Amino acid sequence: TADTALAELLNSRIRDVPDYPKPGVLFKDIAPLLADAEAFGALTRALADRAKELGATKVVGLEARGFVLAAPAAVAAGLGFVPIRKQGKLPGEVFRRSYELEYGSATLEVQRDAFAPGERVLVVDDVLATGGTIGASLDLVKEAGAELVGVVVLMELGFLDGRERLAGHLDGAPLETL
Ligand code: PRP
Repeated sequence: TADTALAELLNSRIRDVPDYPKPGVLFKDIAPLLADAEAFGALTRALADRAKELGATKVVGLEARGFVLAAPAAVAAGLGFVPIRKQGKLPGEVFRRSYELEYGSATLEVQRDAFAPGERVLVVDDVLATGGTIGASLDLVKEAGAELVGVVVLMELGFLDGRERLAGHLDGAPLETL
């Protein structure tokens, strides 16, 4: 199917890097994918198609690699882009959510005026791992008054059970992995 062909193309352009950023971790490097016009273009079109099919009015990207995937998809879909950023990077009033990491915690923010009333949001990131990042982001989207219509990630590390962690945050919206 077209989905299988896309998945094989994307998978072929993701590089496994052992022991990065620390021993025992197998890092999924998307640099070869971004450097390949065919693969990056196919990914961008797939994300834009889902944004349109789901009736999104904005595409949200999560710092930092999520920005690189979400912004061109938003443009290709004819939609605007909204960033969710790490703490302290956005000017003005923000909504803020913290979540637990393996050691310590992390905090994400969105501008309070990011969405007009009634906006429908597709959230895009590169990797779903533990689900902490996307879970906090979905809460921010809702706190800022928008409706979540879907989440699309490039990769999902299934053994970390992120999908289970997100179950209570999705409000019935689909969570898809390309
Ligand atoms: C990585 C990745 C996801 C997140 C997934 O981001 O890009 O956003 O971790 O992990 P989780 O599901 O366990 O929350 P990172 O914090 O490394 O940021 P970067 O994209 O700025 O490098």
